[in-house]
Amino acid sequence: MTIQTVATTPFAGQRPGTSGLRKKVTEFQQPGYLENFVEAIFLTLGEARGRTLVLGGDGRFFNRNAIQTILRMAAAHKVAKVLVGRGGILSTPAVSCVIRKHGAFGGIVLSASHNPGGPDGDFGIKYNIENGGPAPEKITEAIFAHTQVLTEYRISDAGPVDLDRIGSTRLEEMAVEVIDPVADYAELMGRLFDFDAIRALFGRGFTMRFDGMSAVSGPYAKAIIEGMLGAPAGTVINAEPMEDFGGHHPDPNPVNAAELVALMNGADAPEFGAASDGDGDRNMIVGRNLAVAPSDSLAIIAANATLAPGYRDGIRGIARSMPTSQAADRVAAALGISCFETPTGWKYFGNLLDANLATLCGEESYGTGSNHIREKDGVWAVLFWLNLIAATGKSVNQIVEEHWARFGRNYYSRHDYEAVDAHAADRMMVDLRAKLESLAGQTFGEFRVSQADDFVYTDPVDKSVATRQGIRIIMTDGSRIVLRLSGTGTEGATVRVYLERYEADPSRHNLDTQEALAPLIAIAEQVSELKQRTGRTEPSVIT
Ligand code: G6P
Ligand code: ZN
Repeated sequence: MTIQTVATTPFAGQRPGTSGLRKKVTEFQQPGYLENFVEAIFLTLGEARGRTLVLGGDGRFFNRNAIQTILRMAAAHKVAKVLVGRGGILSTPAVSCVIRKHGAFGGIVLSASHNPGGPDGDFGIKYNIENGGPAPEKITEAIFAHTQVLTEYRISDAGPVDLDRIGSTRLEEMAVEVIDPVADYAELMGRLFDFDAIRALFGRGFTMRFDGMSAVSGPYAKAIIEGMLGAPAGTVINAEPMEDFGGHHPDPNPVNAAELVALMNGADAPEFGAASDGDGDRNMIVGRNLAVAPSDSLAIIAANATLAPGYRDGIRGIARSMPTSQAADRVAAALGISCFETPTGWKYFGNLLDANLATLCGEESYGTGSNHIREKDGVWAVLFWLNLIAATGKSVNQIVEEHWARFGRNYYSRHDYEAVDAHAADRMMVDLRAKLESLAGQTFGEFRVSQADDFVYTDPVDKSVATRQGIRIIMTDGSRIVLRLSGTGTEGATVRVYLERYEADPSRHNLDTQEALAPLIAIAEQVSELKQRTGRTEPSVIT
């Protein structure tokens, strides 16, 4: 067993994006590609000697190879100990939980989230810091800078480590502890939620389907919902993580989780449906004939938070991304707490959580979470809903309808135009920006524009400023049209149009969402000329 120094040359394009470095598997399979990036992480971290690192991924193709490589490199960099999930498995929220619980100095998550897996799919690697959250930009930029100039990497020739047996081994001087991927996370959930009440709910015959989408959340849902909470076997479906996610697109929204939605709309529908994504950080909540909008889910969790033991003393504040609907703002106002509006991206919540300014966070993109960790958390959101159902004795539909009756309904939808010509999309945004000033005060049918701008965020904690975070056209009645380009798309550009309209009158809470938003959809098109400029006649995905 020796530590080798291997000569290498930089690869172009190793700048981490919104959620780490995400590329095709074939790109990661190039000799030295993964090694260079991992070397850059270690160079950025500096002295790793004596410290503990957490390592795991969503089980997709290339996960196991990557883990063996990273272990050998960690040993070469004198890391004292690595906690690795059995089988190389750790969901994104579990990595965050394990880092915090064991006082690790950081963790490496191997995932490309909801992007397709398999030999022709995507792979990804992301570094999380000691608070358990994604590395901030100054760290990811330093990693990128190292990738551009490094000439060698260090790696042990020992191994491989048996990833399937729980327990401790050594690689060179380094301790490798293969841990149960679920245990620490399940223990944390048990402290936040009323497991006795949920167990009693299932004991009374309550029916549920959780769709693991053949990705990482399956083992967590199975161990907690079927194992600890006593739901009948078969409650969790597609529960085995597969290297190619069984060919599914593990992104929980009504389009990709069509099977679950069809079940919930059918004659034999269970009472509660839920799904999570590739790496277990997103969630979808479904009632009978009702897919709960993520923005509503955040507002409902906030309004009822004290029903869950972990939030019994109340919440300090709520944070939502700018395009997320303002349903949560109404709850915050009623509770007399702050509601923060941040740019899209979970990393913007980190400072608010660390400073205890916010307790709950959420995004329209099916992400919900709290200060229990520093990632969004799919299974956590599902357990929160189970806790609400158990504590109130009400159905998902009743909880949602009563929430609308009390706070009003924020009709909400997102229209995505995927893989459009990047140049055309950029031009559209530039031209739209130029129009913003003249939009204020204009009238479009029943709507009058009160404000039109390109969202700028100043972090209340470190005062950093993020500009150009999305074009907002805000109407005098609070309705909004938001347009931005996705930061996670991999092909051309993805234009996202977010539409929101507030309705206070309960007799108008059961309209079809697209119909309720139709006038705003027309205004968005008129102002942006989106269809004409992209050559598209309709959105690729509507959620
Ligand atoms: C990831 C991020 C989220 C973000 C979502 C959509 O899941 O973690 O914070 O909301 O992508 O981002 P996009 O830039 O594609 O709209
Ligand atoms: Zn994800």
